[in-house]
Amino acid sequence: MYGGGNSFEAPAINERPEAENPELLAEFEARIERGEKIEPSDWMPALYRKQLIRMIEQHAHSEIIGALPEGTWITRAPGFRRKLAQMAKVQDEVGHGQLLYSAAETLGKSREEMINDLINGKSKYSNIFNYPAFTWADSNVISWLVDAGAIVNQLANAKGSYGPYCRALDRICAEESFHLKYGHDAVVHLATGTPLQRKMVQEALHRWWPPLMHFFGPPDKMSIHTEQLMRWKVKMASNDDMRQQFLDMYVPKIWELGLTLPDPLLKKNLETGKWDYTEPDWEEFKRVINGDGPCNKERLGVRKQAEEKGAWVRRALLNPQAKYVQPLA
Ligand code: COA
Repeated sequence: MYGGGNSFEAPAINERPEAENPELLAEFEARIERGEKIEPSDWMPALYRKQLIRMIEQHAHSEIIGALPEGTWITRAPGFRRKLAQMAKVQDEVGHGQLLYSAAETLGKSREEMINDLINGKSKYSNIFNYPAFTWADSNVISWLVDAGAIVNQLANAKGSYGPYCRALDRICAEESFHLKYGHDAVVHLATGTPLQRKMVQEALHRWWPPLMHFFGPPDKMSIHTEQLMRWKVKMASNDDMRQQFLDMYVPKIWELGLTLPDPLLKKNLETGKWDYTEPDWEEFKRVINGDGPCNKERLGVRKQAEEKGAWVRRALLNPQAKYVQPLA
């Protein structure tokens, strides 16, 4: 449903689990059931490999593209201490991208191919980074709530089945928890500041709420990958469960600050124990993840430029002798 022309192609007949050697498949699934980690040199079904590459690669792209909206606020952050913290956070995010590209490479796709797929628009990355950070408060809302959403997802998936991905997630979660504290502190500062600061953070929160609701993926009944991924413990919670967990943890904290959210239906339903909310616009989500969001072109443009500007470094590293054979100018 969401695939058209994008990163994930339906598995070919020989990639489907039923085409695998049944004994190897049964042993693989038994290992997963016992909670063992699968390592790069272990046997794995073709579809497990393909799904992991898709997911880890998209995650890696999200980290490096995700550095852009907050990166634009480094030079404009209010005060030296905030600048330092903002810079450190953005560097962490790019580092997460590197860890995740390395984890994806263990499955056989090169970093070069992954970056090419990103800048050519073949791979997806998180919807949320295609929205603009108009004000300092937007950047703070990202630091707090987008990182909070990411932690919900990553803490769950860190307990998954693929060793290199889980180890990368453990490390990432430790750093993300600092980001979350930094973002919360910055939002509290604005929410308890002057009327203008409070207005700024309130408006930012309203802007980011719909993309945050999209962030956990389509409702379970529309999700194409969840069932298989959960069976193989790549994904440890469904999209709806992660969204509910996020609402449970963070809506009370937002309301505590006297801030509002742009959803009149949002409330904890005491009978079901779950949050009721208005479904976000899933057509908008589809447009954004398929390349037609407010900032998609700008984000990929920056990555493309970085790729072109860094080409000489990669050439020099790959062929350090080249400078000696070129004629001197
Ligand atoms: N942003 C962009 N695309 C998204 C998305 C989001 N927030 N949520 C879902 N999608 C895409 C999926 O990638 C998939 O497209 P594809 O088949 O072309 O790859 C499609 O929508 C259908 O979604 P679903 O079947 O639910 O995908 P999924 O089971 O992979 O679940 C995630 C989506 C994001 C929850 C899952 O991939 C995940 O946990 N990824 C790792 C964490 C991550 O990437 N975080 C990013 C921010 S730090």
